[in-house]
Amino acid sequence: MLDWSEPAAPSLRMPLPLVAQATVAADQTGLGTIDRSGGRVSVDDKRMINCRADVNQLLPLKYKWAWEKYLAGCNNHWMPTEVSMQADIALWKSRDGLTEDERRAIKRNLGFFAASESLVANNIVLAIYRHLTNPECRQYLLRQSFEEAVHTHTFQYIVESLGLDEGELFNMYREVPSITDKAAWALKHTQHLDDPDFKTGTPQADQAFLRDLVAFYVIFEGMWFYTGFAQILSLGRRNKMVGIAEQYQYILRDESIHLNFGIDVINQIKIENPDLWTKAFQDEVRAMVRDAAELEAAYGRDTMPRGFLGLNAALCETYMHFIANRRCAQLGLQRVFDETENPFPWMSEAMDLKKEKNFFETRVIEYQNGGALSWE
Ligand SMILES: [Fe+2]
Ligand SMILES: [Fe+2]
Repeated sequence: MLDWSEPAAPSLRMPLPLVAQATVAADQTGLGTIDRSGGRVSVDDKRMINCRADVNQLLPLKYKWAWEKYLAGCNNHWMPTEVSMQADIALWKSRDGLTEDERRAIKRNLGFFAASESLVANNIVLAIYRHLTNPECRQYLLRQSFEEAVHTHTFQYIVESLGLDEGELFNMYREVPSITDKAAWALKHTQHLDDPDFKTGTPQADQAFLRDLVAFYVIFEGMWFYTGFAQILSLGRRNKMVGIAEQYQYILRDESIHLNFGIDVINQIKIENPDLWTKAFQDEVRAMVRDAAELEAAYGRDTMPRGFLGLNAALCETYMHFIANRRCAQLGLQRVFDETENPFPWMSEAMDLKKEKNFFETRVIEYQNGGALSWE
C-alpha cells in the first residue's frame, strides 16, 4: 500500500564515517575503464556522493527508500492521452464559460509548467545523474526522467486539444517576467554543475550539488509547482477544465514522490557528510526557501491580479508560507515564516487519488503486455 504522507523530519541515524578523499574512486560515472580486479560490491561501500563502489551494480541494495520510490513510480504509470479533453474543449471554445481572469490564469499556469517540466528533466539528466553515485538512486532518476517526459507530453496534448498558440505557451518562460524570474533563479543553481570540469569531492563542490538539489527538488518541484496545482485543481473542483484538472492530479501524484525522493536524498547526504551541513549553509538554504516564496508571491499576483473562484494572490502567498515552513521541517531546518494554517486543506485530499473511485475505471487504453507481442 502506498503512503502519500510526506516524509517525517530526518531521523537521528548515526553519521557514517567519512570517506577519505584518497579512497574515492576515480570513476563516478560508471563509464570508465573496467577494473578487472574489482571485488564484489559491499553495501557498506555504497554512498550517495563520491562513492568508491562500482555504480554499475544495482545489488546489493543499500537505500531501500529509493528502490521503493522507483516501484511506486512504475505503479503510477499513466499517459495524458488517456484523459478525455472533450469537456475542456467545449468550455474553452464557449464564449462565456470562463472569465477573462480564469483564461489568463490557465494560460500562464500552462505556460509555467510547459517549460518547467523540461527544465527539471534537463537538470536530472545533465546535472544530478552524473554526480549522484548510487545505482538505486539512479534507477529512480531514470524513472523520474521518463515521468517528466510524460508531463511535458501533457502540455503538448493540452495545446493540441484546445488549439492554443504553442509558441505563446512554450515561450512564456522567456516572455513573462514572473515566470522568467523563477526559471532564472533555479537555473543559476544548476549552471555550476553544467561546467564540464565540475566534480564533487570538495566541500565547496558538494555544497554546490546540495544547492542544486534544494533548488530543483525542494523549491521548483516542492514549492512552485504547488501553487500551480492549487490553481487548476480549484477550477476542477468547480467543474471547470476537468480534463486538465485530472491530468494535474496525476502530475501531482508523481511530483509528490519526486519531492519526497529529493528530500530523502538531501537528508541522506547530510547523514553521510555532516561537515557539509554547517550553520552557514543551513542559513543559506533557509534564505533560498524564503526567496523562492517571494518569487512565487510575485507570480501569484501576476497570474491572479483579481482572484477567481475562491483563489487569490494573498491566499496563494499564505499557502506558499505554509509549504515553505513544511519543506524546512522536512530538511530539519527552522521555519522561515510565521506559523500559518493551510488555506487550501482540500489540496491534501486532491493528492489522495485513492478517494477518486472512478480513477482507474476511466482508463481507456490497455497497455500492450507480453501476451500481445508477436514475434513474426
Ligand atoms: Fe514533472
Ligand atoms: Fe517532477
